[in-house]
Amino acid sequence: MKIRFLLMLTSLVFFLNACSKDDNAVLDILETPVANAPKDIVDNGFRAKWNYVSHSKSYLLDVSTNENFSAFVPNYNAKEVTDLNEVVVGLTGGTQYYYRVRAKTGTQISDYSNVISVVTTGSSGIPEDPTFLKVKANKLANPFFIGMAVKASQLTNGTPYDVILKNEFSSISAEYEMKMDQISTASGVYNWAVADKIVAYGNANKINVHGHALVWHNAVPQWLKDFSGTDAEFAVEVKKYITDVVTHYAGKVKSWDVVNEAVDDNGGVMRNTIFLKRMGPNYVKDCFQWARNAATAAGDTSLLLFYNDYATSTNIVKQDKVFSILDDLKTAKVIDGVGFQMHNTYLSPTKSQIETDLNRAVAKGLKIHVSELDIQVNQFNDITSFTNERRLAQKAKYKEMVQLYNALPAANKYALTIWGMRDNESWIPYSTELNHPGNDWPLLYDSNFAIKSSHTGFLEGLD
Ligand code: GLA
Repeated sequence: MKIRFLLMLTSLVFFLNACSKDDNAVLDILETPVANAPKDIVDNGFRAKWNYVSHSKSYLLDVSTNENFSAFVPNYNAKEVTDLNEVVVGLTGGTQYYYRVRAKTGTQISDYSNVISVVTTGSSGIPEDPTFLKVKANKLANPFFIGMAVKASQLTNGTPYDVILKNEFSSISAEYEMKMDQISTASGVYNWAVADKIVAYGNANKINVHGHALVWHNAVPQWLKDFSGTDAEFAVEVKKYITDVVTHYAGKVKSWDVVNEAVDDNGGVMRNTIFLKRMGPNYVKDCFQWARNAATAAGDTSLLLFYNDYATSTNIVKQDKVFSILDDLKTAKVIDGVGFQMHNTYLSPTKSQIETDLNRAVAKGLKIHVSELDIQVNQFNDITSFTNERRLAQKAKYKEMVQLYNALPAANKYALTIWGMRDNESWIPYSTELNHPGNDWPLLYDSNFAIKSSHTGFLEGLD
């Protein structure tokens, strides 16, 4: 009996032993993890997620552009991760990706999880508001013009450009075709054809025409640069030009930038242009007076005269000099408004810098034209494609500018003009002065005339 009992006990010990070995074997087979839906999807990546597997020490993450994982996104071929999620980066916007994981402990690796598919946002992933800009602006208690810089060659009836221009914009400025070097071919000789086309387009379509610009140091015709007469005779030529152009467009052009960029970027002094050298520091006031006299003589008593300049929000020494010129012009009663070009970036100027600049003009009772707005997103050349991060930063910056402008007192508002329609038409990458190192996407429409988030930001700024 004792022996039987001992035998039973021994077999029980063996049995228990065997059982515990079996248990260990079960524990050694790693469970298959469950991959979860991604989070934080952006243009160039997303956060891949999965569930915990007991006894696993890490997970092996695969990311591919095809469901069969026949090729991997670089760096994501069994990438070892110790967490239960991983931010996948370096992807392309608007593209379909797939991911899966395996659990790992020591040399043991589980089966593959389920496959999760994810599409990075891309531009098409962000819902945009298709409302027309001027339609929304015209519903404001105190509406203002929504302007666009144009070239005569773009104004062909029925083209996508023309349709958008008529739907969305209520003012136009010539990008360069109404400057002195384009219109004046010799003393008293004018080539009106191209400028006339722009003005006629605006007038025929009930779009405001802003004249840009009568006097600018970068658009002096060769004959005037070479002018060999006295300084007094030089001034007579400038007076004749201003008088003839203002008279030619009297009643058709509602406002003119009389002088563009008369202040230097350094030292708070006037820019040392041919006009300053030949006519002295009063030349700005003289040009305004000649423009005013010409309009009055032509029976146009409502022509608005603007001084236009750039970078005054960030360059305070320059801002001070511009405002001292504006003071002189106010005292002489020859100026109506000031144009702030606003060739900005997604980082600069700050909201309060812009606010301070605009408020100085409000305090002087001047009309304000945000005259050449564009917002760069690649001024450091650190992106090779338009990322969602920049897209949204640019949207916020456009919204901020429009909000600031819209908040101005009614009497100070005139127009907010965008400097070009499509990104691929912008002057920014080609400007030698800006010395912009790469491509950029500064405007409201992409190269296919599709509205961008900047356009939606503009609309939101009108709320
Ligand atoms: C300045 C001028 C504009 C235009 C831009 C570049 O801002 O005021 O007329 O030439 O440069 O497009």
